[in-house]
Amino acid sequence: MTGKLRLGVNIDHVATVRNARGSAYPDPVRAGLLAEEAGADGITAHLREDRRHITDDDIERLMASLTRPLNFEMAATAEMQAIALRHRPHAVCIVPEKREERTTEGGLDVAGDDNRLADFIAPLSAAGSRVSMFIGHDPRQIEVSARIGAAVVELHTGHYCDLHHEGRFTERDAELAALKEGARLAHSLGLEVHAGHGLTYDTVGPVAAIPEVMELNIGHFLIGEAIFVGLKDAIAEMRRAMDAARG
Ligand code: PXP
Repeated sequence: MTGKLRLGVNIDHVATVRNARGSAYPDPVRAGLLAEEAGADGITAHLREDRRHITDDDIERLMASLTRPLNFEMAATAEMQAIALRHRPHAVCIVPEKREERTTEGGLDVAGDDNRLADFIAPLSAAGSRVSMFIGHDPRQIEVSARIGAAVVELHTGHYCDLHHEGRFTERDAELAALKEGARLAHSLGLEVHAGHGLTYDTVGPVAAIPEVMELNIGHFLIGEAIFVGLKDAIAEMRRAMDAARG
């Protein structure tokens, strides 16, 4: 595995701030363009069923404006599949979605829904999108993702980050070891490996150092940090932390 570790900047929470007041600003498309200038390798946006942040119009405008690839996060529903097939984004990341959750809390149960998901992702891949499954590091989930034809798995780093911030370092290290094992297995099965969720300057290094990981998707922390230092500086600092860990 070689090559630069890519950074996908998730702009959902620019839309969260906009929607809190029902205004037209701050505009997530402007944030996406600025993130590109700051060195993002791609932009990630999650169109949720309840449209709590990103809207259909945001996706239209992102597709029309971005110069780097859009990673379109969505639940495995017929409505979202139709939207993805209309836009044909570079990448489609399938995530579990529950209305009551604040964020994507766990990985997708690919193994428990393999036949449906195989049928669901086939037309997306045929349309030219790289399909990614957002899963935990469970070997079964990884193996079934490969078997049903996904090109990519994105490993959920949320639990690792939570354990770090709670000071539970022994458990954190065990979780990190399991993520490393998962990345190795996924790579050996021909899957491209991404990772993301909850990453901060403090937690990004060990994940960036996993050699099989080719892309990190980071949002909430960067948008929060942008309040204090601006989006460009926040992204540049994250890039530095990633590159330093990668060696
Ligand atoms: N990757 C996936 C698949 C996600 O669902 C999310 C959250 O939307 C992220 C990465 C980014 O997580 P965070 O906003 O916590 O950085």
